Amino acid sequence: MRLSPTEIKKVKSPAPALVCLTAYTAPIARILDRHCDLLLVGDSVAMTLYGHDNTRAANLEMMSRHGQAVVRATSHACVIVDMPFGSYEQSPQVALTNAQRLMEETGAQGVKLEGGTDLAESIHLIVKHNIPVMGHIGLLPQQVTSPEGFRYKGRTQDEIKSLFQDIEAVTQAGAFSIVIEGVSEAVAASLSAQTPIPTIGIGASAACDGQILVSDDMLGLTYGHLPKFVKTYADLDNEINVAVGRFAEEVRTRHFPNPTYLYAAQTAQK
Ligand code: KIV
Repeated sequence: MRLSPTEIKKVKSPAPALVCLTAYTAPIARILDRHCDLLLVGDSVAMTLYGHDNTRAANLEMMSRHGQAVVRATSHACVIVDMPFGSYEQSPQVALTNAQRLMEETGAQGVKLEGGTDLAESIHLIVKHNIPVMGHIGLLPQQVTSPEGFRYKGRTQDEIKSLFQDIEAVTQAGAFSIVIEGVSEAVAASLSAQTPIPTIGIGASAACDGQILVSDDMLGLTYGHLPKFVKTYADLDNEINVAVGRFAEEVRTRHFPNPTYLYAAQTAQK
């Protein structure tokens, strides 16, 4: 049975932390589904799979296609699709229309939007139409257009005050959970204590109620910059490099394909 946003919403510390990763394709999602409570079809797909240097290149069509693939390949995790840059900022009604499109086309369990007080009205309207919403505060990748822009938040008292206003606004608007990205442990702990909904940290310490990473990063397949907060659990870049090197060598020296990989010999008859 697939986990629902309602079940995810109940998970607060000291319950075991929620295990979340990004997913974009069917074969990888199928593996992640065995281990994860929640899979996010993140707009980071624009960077990880399409080679852009920020997430702004993602669009509704892209998110819809990857959302469909991830939902098709999974049966356990709650699947949430990111609303891409430009699809929700204009007005609450535009946000709702595009959230409805993503839900209908993908069959996902909810959508995620980046922002705080500025988005409270949109989140409220989407939730009122029975679409579960995951919030996202702190470092907002859609606001970052150069690699130097990926800097942690909560450096000043004003920034910390805004973060508290954001988490309050997103919670009151009806979000079922909230990603907190790029803040210190002390700030993450206070933010988590302030809201009854689960906080999902990325670069925000174990003080959150769950953790999420970009799957390509934790698998050692980063295309571009690897953030400081990522622990890599595999080195797929190297694994693929070694495998493809062996293939290339065997093809060039005519050791592949050998008889094991040939169809049975037939006598040609006309
Ligand atoms: O798009 C994404 O991968 C995300 C995570 C960083 C949470 O929003």
